Amino acid sequence: MGSVNVALLGFGTVGSGVYELIEREQERLSESLNGSVNVVAVLVKDDSIKRDVSSDVLVTSNIDDVLAQPVDVIVDAIVGVEPAFTYLCKAIDQGCHIITANKEMFAYKGFELKEKAKEQGVAVHYEATVAGGVPVIRTLSQLVSVNEVVRIEAILNGTSNYILSEMRNKQIDLNTALQEAQRLGYAEADPTNDIEGFDAFYKAVILAELVTEERVSFNQVFRQGITGLRQEDVVNQQLKGHRAKHIVTLTIKQGEVNGVVEPKWVTAKHPLYDVEGVNNGVVVTSQYNGQLKLEGPGAGKGPTASVIVEDLVHIYKHEQKIVVH
Ligand code: NDP
Ligand code: HSE
Repeated sequence: MGSVNVALLGFGTVGSGVYELIEREQERLSESLNGSVNVVAVLVKDDSIKRDVSSDVLVTSNIDDVLAQPVDVIVDAIVGVEPAFTYLCKAIDQGCHIITANKEMFAYKGFELKEKAKEQGVAVHYEATVAGGVPVIRTLSQLVSVNEVVRIEAILNGTSNYILSEMRNKQIDLNTALQEAQRLGYAEADPTNDIEGFDAFYKAVILAELVTEERVSFNQVFRQGITGLRQEDVVNQQLKGHRAKHIVTLTIKQGEVNGVVEPKWVTAKHPLYDVEGVNNGVVVTSQYNGQLKLEGPGAGKGPTASVIVEDLVHIYKHEQKIVVH
């Protein structure tokens, strides 16, 4: 029986979640893949901190030590464009498959990374970059093989949606709700990315590139976060049946994308009105399939780890053969 050797870049909310899930679901994974899945190395910033991993897992802050291991798959769960992009390029050159959760890196460099991976004959999967546990990348990839996607309307930042729901339901202020979102592992390392709309913006760019199969310029997408919303308005507007939602709208005409990421007041008639708490919702309108709505947990350890390991299973069930190490 073969095995899949995995290296985790990052051991925060997402990286540790992937490690724990692989450990806990080893039997299920072995049955599914007819091979075991082993985490062989973990890359962190500070390797002097003791990590909760088995003693045979290498923990290091040096990417070359990671790539000196017999690694088949790299899971990128670190923060920002660099050094992640450079590390992933090195890994691709070495024949590793890539699974990434790093939406900032992927919005800037995803197109390049996919092209590089294609040249080298390795897989790049990125389900975790958009909408946490909601399988939006898989669904859109399938839809565009038959349909033209003409519009996407979505809540793509779990932290903002959680904050707005808490501000309304518990009448707490933005900062108090944000602290709770951080405690729950929903927020980015720098939560400015969540509340100022950068995180949803990156996700909008990733979806736009997926549906057009073209590189999308950042100036095709307008961005505004939720920090301009006043708490009293969020509370009072509900008496008129309005909820504040942070919404991404992408319209696609003849392959050209126009994107807007902004807070909006919506009524109960709107398909995203009931998407509450950390949930994300995605409404896709396409040529033949009409309107499709996906909803589920948009952030957090369990859902994100799940889609990452699903990506891994997909690679070895549908794209590559397991090697014997
Ligand atoms: P955390 O801040 O919890 O963890 C980040 C981890 O990456 C830490 O282990 C840190 O090391 C390590 N790290 C950061 N920079 C470097 C570097 N330059 N070199 C080596 N290691 C580094 O973040 P999350 O786990 O929440 O998020 C990780 C990625 O996943 C981000 O890109 C985020 O956008 C994305 N994501 C997050 C989701 C969530 O719900 N939290 C959901 C979907 C995607 P150390 O421990 O030493 O500090
Ligand atoms: N900080 C992000 C969010 C994590 O709240 O949606 C999931 O991408």
